[in-house]
Amino acid sequence: MTVSSEKDRKALEKIGKIVSDAREEMIKGIKPGITTKELDEIGESVLSEYGAKSAPKSAYNFPGFTCISVNDQAAHGIPGPLVLKLGDIVNVDVSAELDGYFADTGATVVLDREDVLKNKLCNCSQSALMKSISRARAGCKLNLIGKTIYEEAKANGFTVIKNLGGHGIGRKLHEDPSHILNYSNKWDTRLMKSGLVLAVETFISTKAEYVSEAKDGWTLRTPDHSLVAQFEHTIIVTDGEPIIITA
Ligand code: CO
Ligand code: CO
Repeated sequence: MTVSSEKDRKALEKIGKIVSDAREEMIKGIKPGITTKELDEIGESVLSEYGAKSAPKSAYNFPGFTCISVNDQAAHGIPGPLVLKLGDIVNVDVSAELDGYFADTGATVVLDREDVLKNKLCNCSQSALMKSISRARAGCKLNLIGKTIYEEAKANGFTVIKNLGGHGIGRKLHEDPSHILNYSNKWDTRLMKSGLVLAVETFISTKAEYVSEAKDGWTLRTPDHSLVAQFEHTIIVTDGEPIIITA
């Protein structure tokens, strides 16, 4: 969507705050011994406290309130009996709706402060997100986002997942513009305009460039089991620095 009023902006900021609160509460809950189902319940309790509805559940009948993807799972991991353990790299992705407005956010943490490579992967994915967001401007090409993410991954010796990316958002979970990739496609001539609402997502991997769907019909994982770290914010594009509504 494109924000056209103060009402739009306020409503987006409200749902943005809710999903970021849920994300942070879930991140705090990530520790060895907890199941991904229990983690999902933490997220759901924050959403329901504010009267917000899980977007993957309402839009796609996803079997969970949030997506929790561990290790070689890049996205759409289903919360369940999996017990988290030392060394896991855990992604939580929360999207929800309130009063007809949607926001989407994600973050990844490593359950091992000593693991240099895994922590470097997470830090790279987060810095790629923040750098790509800081360059997003009305009038710039949309593929500047992918170019920035790709360059950050490459500079750190990592790859990007080429068949996942960000998307437009606002009145639905997934809107145009679709396919905001993690690399620059020169045929993509779309421009960003003021007020445009985007979910910017980074998918940085230790090796893989593509993910495939698991037998459960939801989970997207790397075929070679290389690790993936995802970060995501919902932003409103402006003539200056974007407004991050899920900060
Ligand atoms: Co998301
Ligand atoms: Co998203």
